[in-house]
Amino acid sequence: MSSYRSHLEVLRRAFPQPVSNQEHDAWFVFSVLRALDQLDSMKSERPILGEPAEIDFRAASEERIPEGISSVEEVARKLVEYFSGMFIWGHPRSQINVIPPPCIPGILGTLLPAIYNPNICSEEGSRRVALAEAEAIAMTADLMGYCPRKAGGVFTFGGTGTLLYAIRTGLEKCCPGSMRSGLSGELPVILCSDEAHYACYTAASWLGLGAEQVVSIPTAPDNEMRTCLFESELRRLVRAGRRIACIVATMGTTDAFGLDPLRQIREIRDEVAGESGLDYLPHLHADAVIGWAWSVFRDYDLSSNELQFSDRTTRALAWAVRRIKDLHLADSIGVDYHKTGFVPYISSAVFFRDAADLQLLARTPAETPYLFQSGEYHPGRFTLETSRSGSGPLAALAAFRLFGRTGLRTMLGHLVSMAELLRDRLQSHPCISVVNPDNFGPVTLFRVYPPSVDTFEMPQREITDAGRAGQLQAHNEYNRRVFEVIHEEALRGEGVVLSMTECWRESDYGQPVSALKSYIMSPFSDEQYVQAVLDSINRAQKIVESSC
Ligand SMILES: Cc1ncc(COP(=O)(O)O)c(C=O)c1O
Repeated sequence: MSSYRSHLEVLRRAFPQPVSNQEHDAWFVFSVLRALDQLDSMKSERPILGEPAEIDFRAASEERIPEGISSVEEVARKLVEYFSGMFIWGHPRSQINVIPPPCIPGILGTLLPAIYNPNICSEEGSRRVALAEAEAIAMTADLMGYCPRKAGGVFTFGGTGTLLYAIRTGLEKCCPGSMRSGLSGELPVILCSDEAHYACYTAASWLGLGAEQVVSIPTAPDNEMRTCLFESELRRLVRAGRRIACIVATMGTTDAFGLDPLRQIREIRDEVAGESGLDYLPHLHADAVIGWAWSVFRDYDLSSNELQFSDRTTRALAWAVRRIKDLHLADSIGVDYHKTGFVPYISSAVFFRDAADLQLLARTPAETPYLFQSGEYHPGRFTLETSRSGSGPLAALAAFRLFGRTGLRTMLGHLVSMAELLRDRLQSHPCISVVNPDNFGPVTLFRVYPPSVDTFEMPQREITDAGRAGQLQAHNEYNRRVFEVIHEEALRGEGVVLSMTECWRESDYGQPVSALKSYIMSPFSDEQYVQAVLDSINRAQKIVESSC
């Protein structure tokens, strides 16, 4: 046998077999099992896999592709090593960000396409997996109040991708033909709140508008857009002849779970467009990548409260639903299943109330002569990407099938209950102030103050009174030190893994106000882990105080 042929024999064993071979399947599964075993042996009581160690990125630049062939086992062992020091998002003492632990069906939804590699560019390359996308889109559209027969949507590469789709569509509405001819003259603008995700700026930059074309509207203390300022700014821009590429309502802000008043935003948009005789209707997008999942409570009777959530939780859910029920009023909606849908990255989709909007992005058949030769489902005609994995839709669909509406209500209701409990405890702490007390989601932002500070007065004062700028800065620094101690403890696998935001909002005089952040995403969270947050803060504060 020639040399390459003998290598080929070895390599063929490293692929799933094209024709049924149960012995090989068993070995394949065993390889997965062994990797899982190795990962399992890295687990302890701590919210971290293995031992945390300094990460040497300089050494990474010295790595080269090996000359020889390795075995599947060797590669698997090496892969597992990369997970050493990784936080376990599903651990109840891990409360870092809006990163969920994926459920097992969601994992299978990612694994199976990894084996058979469908490309949902069209049904030609994915057959019935394309159906999974169509089904997941219909289910979610219906959940959010769109008519699933009229609406359309596609999976894309993250929440940022959903915004890119929405803004590009809005651009085509306000500057028809610009997909082909590009933009000329004064550039259109995007309006969003000052708490909107920076992905709005990313999309503006990458679409050639430039981040300077994003007009940010101030938010109220409850982190929702001030509609009076939105209205005056929209009127000013329209009067000045500026075209509006997109209005983005954030339905679940990243740090605080603020929810913009979508219904009012739409009413203002309609009124201004009508009065000004615009020849297009500015596109209204709901960035609901976090908040979409609360749609499961749209048809939940909170007064009979079948799932028996506590009174506080019911109130918190009612607070969110009053805004989330309006999602269907947006022209498009961004959804991240990989945030509040409990599936692995990447699983995001953008929805249009009217599927015809997607046609604004379509290429001509002449541009894709080698594709779309058979079948009827060809999202690749208008998607930004050409190749798209089937894992996003399959994972989303798998999670929907697992949870149903009841399961998702249970998950979200529990996370909100735990966050409410945490808020109670934090608010009763003399040195702590919860800074998003009017947002009732799974995220809690808080500031820790030195014991000598009056926490009934200071949190408000330092934000509104420019004369307190020095104190604001000193307290920002104090919170950073508390965070660092908590983080060091967390890296040792002790305490709780929290995060910090440098600027959860700006003070009235334009200074960043930082905060510590607990984002409860684990179904395993429970009362004792809520107390663990308080214990961690108390330990950290003692250390910081002793070093002052
Ligand atoms: C409100 C909001 N929009 C957009 C994004 C961007 O989403 P992705 O990270 O999936 O690109 C995020 C990310 O956290 C977000 O919180």
